Amino acid sequence: MNRTIKSCCSRWRRKAAGVFCAALAALAAGCGAAETEPPVLRVGVALYTQDDTFISTIAAELERMAREEEQERGMRINLSVVDGRSNQTTQLEQIDSLIGRGCDALCVNIVDRTAAAVLIDKARKADVPLIFFNRQPVAEDMLRWEHAYYVGAKAEEGGVLQGRLVLEAWQAGPALDRNGDGVLQYVMLEGEPGHQDAMLRTEYAVKTLTDAGVAVEKLASDTANWKRGQAMAKARQWLEEGMGDAIEVVFANNDDMALGAIDAFKQAEEDLPLVVGVDATAPALEAVAARELYGTVRNDGAGIARAMLDLVLALADGSDPAGAVELEDGHYVWLPYRAVTARDLEEKAP
Ligand code: GAL
Ligand code: CA
Repeated sequence: MNRTIKSCCSRWRRKAAGVFCAALAALAAGCGAAETEPPVLRVGVALYTQDDTFISTIAAELERMAREEEQERGMRINLSVVDGRSNQTTQLEQIDSLIGRGCDALCVNIVDRTAAAVLIDKARKADVPLIFFNRQPVAEDMLRWEHAYYVGAKAEEGGVLQGRLVLEAWQAGPALDRNGDGVLQYVMLEGEPGHQDAMLRTEYAVKTLTDAGVAVEKLASDTANWKRGQAMAKARQWLEEGMGDAIEVVFANNDDMALGAIDAFKQAEEDLPLVVGVDATAPALEAVAARELYGTVRNDGAGIARAMLDLVLALADGSDPAGAVELEDGHYVWLPYRAVTARDLEEKAP
């Protein structure tokens, strides 16, 4: 039978300290290592949907890093990953069940970022530390409990870096100004309405150009909910409306949508405009190397997974989380974005 930490202590902080003490106690009691099951740390991981390229890379990294930690620490880390299927009610039920089954920590990629308060209150009541990631709750909600955390990247920074990629290309010569009118004509493919990354990347990408004195003209913009297929359909519609020659830049709030736009241009046999995305997913990096996607902005999924695991382990160990991760305002861990173009890939290549 598995000896779980939960069985010896009721509250996670004590239980936590118990992860390592339990093994020692077992040895002191004369139990041979062979008879002793390693201590188990149970982590609930709730995804807004599994059907999202970037989110599934975070889940995969978390799984990989947990296996490494198990080896190093001689313990078991059980990750229970649940798929919210983009439904907040479903996700709340899943979290109730994870708490009910006695998880030691929760990592939550919340479906509706305005619904965090109820979740924080649940976790607080059960005394299960709660780490939000990628989908950022509103700031006031985060203040409801000292053990509510957020791990992610600053959305506006992603927008600024994406804007700078385009700014550099604009300043590099007249080629980008296809119609030679001195104005940058663009379309914008946006992520889910209401998502901090959709709103702020959109705003700051354009602001970076206008702040630098570039005149811009928005030809069209629409949401494609982070999805390649939806982005392809929107871009195809714009091309059918005859916009093909006029579009000088396609801004996409993420790589999947940037790739969707490229799909539409290729299918319509139109010349590719300058297309930029965010995330640096594997297929996007291939498109950058193939010179189809001009550039992307790396969203550090591995960094997010690492920081969450470090937080979970520190909390389980009863140690100060600020010693394990760089914690801002007691609640936030920020991962930096980084721009990637074909030049960066070449420099990295041996
Ligand atoms: C963004 C990412 C998107 C999508 C979204 C989901 O940060 O760029 O590709 O994964 O998060 O919340
Ligand atoms: Ca122009």
